[in-house]
Amino acid sequence: MKLTMTLPRRFTLWIAFLLVILVGAITWVTERREVSTIYEETKNKGVLIAKNLIDHNLRYLLNYDYDGLQTGIREQLDDRLLYVVFYDKFATAIAYNREIAELNAVYCCSRLQGDNRPDSVAAQAKDVALGGKLRPVIEIEIPIFIHGSSDRWGSVKVGLSLAEMRAEVRRTRLVLILMGLVGFLLGLGGATVLARRISRPIEKLVEGTVRISQGDFDHRIEISSEDEIGNLARSFNDMTARLLDARGQMEDAHRKLVQAEKLASIGRLAATIAHEIRNPLTSVKLNIQKIVEDGRLGPPETEHLAISQEGIAQIEKFIKELLNYTRVAELHPERFPVALILEESAKVLADAFREKRIALEKRIEDGLPEILVDGDKMRQVFLNVLRNSLEATSPGGRIKVTAARGEGAAAGKVRVRISDGGCGIPEKDWENIFEPFYTTKSSGIGLGLAISRRIVEQHKGTIRVVRKRGPGTAFEILIPVEEAS
Ligand SMILES: Nc1ncnc2c1ncn2[C@@H]1O[C@H](COP(=O)(O)OP(=O)(O)OP(=O)(O)O)[C@@H](O)[C@H]1O
Ligand SMILES: [Mg+2]
Repeated sequence: MKLTMTLPRRFTLWIAFLLVILVGAITWVTERREVSTIYEETKNKGVLIAKNLIDHNLRYLLNYDYDGLQTGIREQLDDRLLYVVFYDKFATAIAYNREIAELNAVYCCSRLQGDNRPDSVAAQAKDVALGGKLRPVIEIEIPIFIHGSSDRWGSVKVGLSLAEMRAEVRRTRLVLILMGLVGFLLGLGGATVLARRISRPIEKLVEGTVRISQGDFDHRIEISSEDEIGNLARSFNDMTARLLDARGQMEDAHRKLVQAEKLASIGRLAATIAHEIRNPLTSVKLNIQKIVEDGRLGPPETEHLAISQEGIAQIEKFIKELLNYTRVAELHPERFPVALILEESAKVLADAFREKRIALEKRIEDGLPEILVDGDKMRQVFLNVLRNSLEATSPGGRIKVTAARGEGAAAGKVRVRISDGGCGIPEKDWENIFEPFYTTKSSGIGLGLAISRRIVEQHKGTIRVVRKRGPGTAFEILIPVEEAS
């Protein structure tokens, strides 16, 4: 199994490593200083004790009473003061406590031999075997000068137990280690929290980039901090917005390309049909007409011929629409009030509206700007949409038409909405209905909306199905006020 080191873990480990070094160094330095302070204090205490001993035993010293001195020493000894040695000026041990009689190394040698300075102090820490036990000791020796004399009388050496000092050092070390440990744990906790705080936005950024790399351009990286990571996230969001935009444009271009290819093949088909069928069809139509006008046929035959004529008319309509769809006619834009174009489109369907008793409600915003469009073509668009609504609406129903200024993204455009309460269109087909030959009607060709979309797009506008309240369908047509191709 491969062990991956995440960024926060690596950061925390480094901090832990640095903390160990730092806390260790602080503990070590503090302990050293503490030890040397305690050692100095003990040494000063030793000097004081030694001076006291001299004062205390002054009369024995003046009288060279070595026995008295011996007794004086014994009186002074306690738990801390382990031994005392008096030396004469020749560095001969003249009085000491019995316990060290066998310790030659302790009592035999004065360290101040030949040293005549009154403030000399010889100090040394060592382990001494006393009463069968090795004990830590600080040995301090100072010279003895009797008042009024500049000649050194001798010196006194005291051995102070360092057990207490060692215990104190151990206590100090323990406290320092505990403090160091607490400091380390606090530092480690802080480092972990910090690592998380730093790494969380980075993790978000990574997660975002992965999602974007998988094609989820809608994903936004939610980092609002004002630092480098925040800037990076903002740049990323900018980039994805642009990518999304570019993808939209690409899809649109692709759709138009497919549409153009379809158009070209339908165009070829239309041309062939027109060429191969139209002439024979016209001659069939004329001949039938002649026979009918001749009047020599009986009523059943005339009726059969009328049905044939209807069929021919249907074929002609199909060919006409097909040619109409494929012909990329140039636009002849002029300024028209939207209301007028809507009015003229509705007029064509007036009879059908009346027959089905369908009410057409129009609501046109006041002061709507005139649109620069090819009037005939735009009429055809509204006619196609209105006819579909009419076909979808049951008798006695109503169709609503509104026209208003576009707002927001649709600013600078006129928004026309045609809605009905008819059978409606399933949402999955909202785009399919604009495909040529898509129809659900037995007598439909499926070109009405395809032609309408082509015309609207020629005018740089859009046509689409939009959501509406209640049953039925609503179409939204946006037409630029100024721009026509
Ligand atoms: N207002 C509407 N309500 C319900 N369905 C609709 C409406 N408008 C369009 N449709 C659906 O969209 C399909 C395509 O419409 P389109 O106008 O392109 O063709 P069509 O009406 O079937 O035939 P034609 O070419 O004669 O117009 C229709 O067959 C219908 O299913
Ligand atoms: Mg139609």
